[in-house]
Amino acid sequence: MTRQIVSVVGGKDAASFTTYDSTNPARTSEVVARVGLADAGTFAAACRTAKEAQREWARTPAPVRGRVIASIGRLVEANAESLAALVTEEIGKPYAEALGEVREIVDTCDFFLGEGRRLYGQTVPSEMPDKNLFTFRNPVGVAAVITAGNFPVAVPSWYLVPALLCGNAVVWKPAEYAAASAHAMYRLFAASGLPEGVLNVVFADGVQTFEGLDTALEEGTVQKVGFTGSSEVGRKIGELCGRHLQSPCLELGGKNPMVVMPDADLDLAVEGALFAGFGTAGQRCTSLGTVIVHESIHDAFVERFASAVEEAVVGDPAGEVLMGPLLDQKFADRFEEFIGWIADHHTVLGKVGKITTSEPHGGFTGEGGIYYHPTVVDGVTPEDRLFLEETFGPIVGVTTFATLDEAIELANLPGYGLSSSIYTTDPRHAFRFREGVSAGMVSVNNSTSGAEAHLPFGGNGKSGNGSRQSGMWVLDQFTRWQAMNWDHSGRLQKAQMDVADIVPDLEFRL
Ligand code: UN1
Repeated sequence: MTRQIVSVVGGKDAASFTTYDSTNPARTSEVVARVGLADAGTFAAACRTAKEAQREWARTPAPVRGRVIASIGRLVEANAESLAALVTEEIGKPYAEALGEVREIVDTCDFFLGEGRRLYGQTVPSEMPDKNLFTFRNPVGVAAVITAGNFPVAVPSWYLVPALLCGNAVVWKPAEYAAASAHAMYRLFAASGLPEGVLNVVFADGVQTFEGLDTALEEGTVQKVGFTGSSEVGRKIGELCGRHLQSPCLELGGKNPMVVMPDADLDLAVEGALFAGFGTAGQRCTSLGTVIVHESIHDAFVERFASAVEEAVVGDPAGEVLMGPLLDQKFADRFEEFIGWIADHHTVLGKVGKITTSEPHGGFTGEGGIYYHPTVVDGVTPEDRLFLEETFGPIVGVTTFATLDEAIELANLPGYGLSSSIYTTDPRHAFRFREGVSAGMVSVNNSTSGAEAHLPFGGNGKSGNGSRQSGMWVLDQFTRWQAMNWDHSGRLQKAQMDVADIVPDLEFRL
């Protein structure tokens, strides 16, 4: 029987006004879940419920909240296989990658469970006697978290886990096409004993969510917005938050470059480009956009890359494949547009478009699923849309350079700044690239994807507003510093005025 799922607000199923079928992209005739979608009013109501619940949660000692995070980690670990299998079923991510994604939630919990016993503030010397200064991290209040479906459980955990640990309540709006995975994750979080209303999950479309968020910001029930998704929607969320004097945490798209230097280990670079370009069918925000390869090794690189792509296994994501289907039909529709940007001056290596009986990949005919050919487009130029814009999906561009400075310029040209990579055996090249590239993440001799859960993650330019998730850096998203001073001198000591003066002899010379 098909799963039926609806939003959960304050621990109770919430009303829905329409339904959405989340399907298996490997077999589109299979409905993974029938999802009841809520309207803007329900979203705003969830934010009010969260606000109510947050007061008590913030009063729960941080070490106790840390133990709840520990329990979530254990629950996710104990359910890792079934959660990963559901992710594979719902969004077509190869099972090995889905298991890695679930691991990332556990890693995040492992990091933050200890933070419950730190969440340090400071004691700071005052400029006056008998006065003490302190800093405290206060929870922001309610976080509204809106996430994409390409990482339907790991990326949400980057928001949910630290937000909850810091004493916030959360209203989470996952992608509709990944709703079953999100609902399962919600249930694991709820099983940890989180008080009702502290975490709420609302399934809604983009229009209703935006309207509900606008209302919630107006009513003052949301103090932080976290958004992972396209640069286009990120702009709109940024504008909305700006009007309410809030700075959201935005994790947006990428056009992630990989520079291959003449001194690189070419086989290693090809292996990295293959995974970066076509792992998750090129639908990570950290997926490879363009390989920027030195002109002297261009032909050798392209030849090896093309044959690696040809040999790559595409197929049922439950098996051992490099690449499964696209996440959902709406991504296939957009991908069709991106492959339309291939022009006469390009050289296409391998095939392009949908995998079919007449256009198979190896022996795979892709029947019943949303499968596309992994495509490499050589000869892209800095004027091409293929070079300048994110092309979410299995397509990688190749271009050449003569000097490292030129490579860095090309790497930065599209104006994103999420991830980047350089293949080189010369440390001077690695550090020069690190310094010059605009990205928040730099890999040396490694793929553009594969961020570890305890390093800062986030982008610059079109990839975000400079906010960072993960590790200790995300604490600044979900807490606000409070400065406290306590004067126990029994008199009014005025800062800057009643300060002892020790007079130096500034004319003194040796
Ligand atoms: C994303 O696609 O939104 O570095 C995040 C990586 C993953 C996270 C990707 N750990 O590829």
